Formats: sequence, C-alpha cells, structure tokens
Amino acid sequence: MSAQRKDDHVRLAIEQQDTRSGINQFDEVSFVHHALAGIDRPQVSLDTTFAGISWQVPLYINAMTGGTAKTGVINRGLAIAARETGVPIASGSVHAYLKDPTCADTFRVLRQENPHGFVIANVNATASVDDTRRALDLLEADALQIHVNTVQETAMPEGDRSFGSWVPQIEKIAAAVDVPVIVKEVGNGLSRETVLLLRQLGVHAADVGGRGGTDFARIENGRRPLGDYAFLHDWGQSTAACLLDAQSAGLPVLASGGVRHPLDVARALALGASGVGASGVFLRTLLDGGPEALIEQLTNWLDQLAALQTMLGARTPADLASNDLIIHGTLRSFCADRGIDTGRLARRSRSADTLHNATGKAQ
Ligand code: FNR
Repeated sequence: MSAQRKDDHVRLAIEQQDTRSGINQFDEVSFVHHALAGIDRPQVSLDTTFAGISWQVPLYINAMTGGTAKTGVINRGLAIAARETGVPIASGSVHAYLKDPTCADTFRVLRQENPHGFVIANVNATASVDDTRRALDLLEADALQIHVNTVQETAMPEGDRSFGSWVPQIEKIAAAVDVPVIVKEVGNGLSRETVLLLRQLGVHAADVGGRGGTDFARIENGRRPLGDYAFLHDWGQSTAACLLDAQSAGLPVLASGGVRHPLDVARALALGASGVGASGVFLRTLLDGGPEALIEQLTNWLDQLAALQTMLGARTPADLASNDLIIHGTLRSFCADRGIDTGRLARRSRSADTLHNATGKAQ
C-alpha cells in the first residue's frame, strides 16, 4: 500500500501541474519599482545563512519521493541535478525505508549521486528518535525535515487519525539529533501561532509549506473511489500569507508551496524567507526532459534570481527583505485581519526613507 501510494503521488502531482488554476497569492505581492536602485551584477551574491546552515544558493529541491523502483529513478535524476547546480535537496519521507529496509537504495541514491551536496532527510512527526537517526544515517544527512500534514492524513484513505503525539515527539527529536531540524508543512501552511510553538519546541527553522502549488488534499482525494473529501481542496494559508504571518516570530523561515518562477523566489525572500523550495515544478521538468532539463532550469532560475537582485539593488538574498512591497487583494485582507502592517512593508527601504525625508524637508 505504502509503495503504491508513492507512485500514485507522483502521477497525481503531475496531473495537478497540468491542470492547476486559480489564484496564487504570490501574484498579490509586488515590488515598489525604484528606477535608480540597481547595482552591478558582480556585487550580487546568492549566499544565505540561517539556523547555522550556509548555502551558496537560496533555492532547494523540496521533499518528494523514494520507496519504489520508479521513485528511485526519480531520486537519481533529482540528485544529479542537485549535484550539478549546487542546489540543496530534501528526500521524500524516509518512512518507507524505516518500514522496509529493502528499499534503502531508492533513497540512498540521493547521497550516492551527490556525495558533497547538502542533503536533508525527511521523516514524519511520529518517527521515533532511533528511526530518525536511521533516516539521517541512511542519507548521511546535513539536516532533518519533519513534515506535518494533518490535512493530507485526513483526506488520505489509509491516513493517520492520531495527531496528539506530534508536539511532544517533535520536541523529543529536536533535542536528540545533532543536525539542524526544520519542521515543514506539505502545502497547507504554518500559522504564526504554529511557528511560535515550533520555536518553543527547540526546532531550528520552519518551512511554511503553504497553499498555492501541489495540493495533497486533492491528491489523496483523487485516490478515494468516491472523491468525497473534495471540501478539503485548497485548505490553509498561502505561502505568501504564511511568510507575512511569521514575520518577527523569532525563528528562521523557509518558503515552499506554489513557487513557479524566479520572481516568486525573490518575492518569498523579500517576505522574509531564508531559502525557497519547490517540488512539483521541478518534478514536471525532470519527467519531461530528464536531469539535463532540470539542470538547465535550476541554472536559469539562479541566474535570473541574481538578475532580479541586481535590478532591485539587493547584494544578498537577505537584502531583499528591505525592499518595499505592496500587498494587494485577498492577501491584503488577510493582513488586515491578522494585524499585519502592510504600510510598513511598502515604505521600509532606505530609498523610501530618503524620499520621505526629502519630502519632509521640502515641506
Ligand atoms: C511531496 N511532498 C512531500 N513532502 C514531505 O514533507 N514529504 C514527502 O514525502 C513528500 N512527498 C511528495 C511527493 C510528491 C510527488 C510531491 C510533488 C510533493 C510535498 C512537497 O515537499 C511540497 O511541500 C509541496 O509539494 C508543495 O510544493 P510545490 O509542489 O507547490 O512546489
């Protein structure tokens, strides 16, 4: 059942890539254009640092798969692309290996093909400390992701219905392992309250994993003969909303869910993310064109992100978090209800201060 589910997820995620429509709230975030803010391309670096982790690029291939022959081939392709571009990569949930070690190679290929890369092992929030260590050992992992996915489990025909142990188990794992621990949602978002709780639990970073891209309620509902959980489709907060909500929560945040192109990466960084992940888009590219196509896409994204930073005057990805942003539409309503000051975001850059002061002096 578990193995069949992994293949179903790939098939249904790709179907979603082809049919996804509706609003993506990244489109409700725009940069205020300052025509003289640009810098020189050689001044731009893509380095990012958070939670004791240093990456040369603020982009990662987020958790997807492993556990079957077919998904092992996918992992091989993802790992080759990660190796050739220096992009960090997370495994799919290593639960399949913990239950059946004969599928070890379908995960281990992530490390074998990418011996010097940054590899993140992914487990669920019920994993024991021993199992978590086995997952980390399998991949010689540099960091751990614990996924939280109550909506997916609820829509999943064979899903878990016991979530009460997750909070103490996350705390136990975070205290026990000696790599940075990232808790991630799988596409329904982390609220500010959840991020604050994660900080208390000793977690090192939160991947907000918001709505807007691959929708696991839709995927699991597609595996139900009656499709009777359609009311859970599109549940949760978008990635942009989560980033706004999590500002100054005191925990480094990563962004994933519905990231479509380098402008979305720049928007997420400007909204405070230290790194930005994508899954569905990269899977589509790999299955269509193989590792070469994914290498080309990742290289282009990084090049275009550097071009955007040059235009926006951001020497580092972290500098984007001082750029002025306008929040529109439904995202603006979310901010109003959650007490987020959009006016402050629109006037936070030094150039805006300068303009403002200059105007003040003229008066
Ligand atoms: C996923 N995702 C995922 N996440 C996780 O934490 N553990 C997992 O095992 C999986 N498995 C998985 C399989 C497939 C085929 C896809 C496409 C995705 C979720 C993923 O990491 C990410 O949170 C969501 O896909 C949202 O990002 P995108 O796809 O909108 O970029």
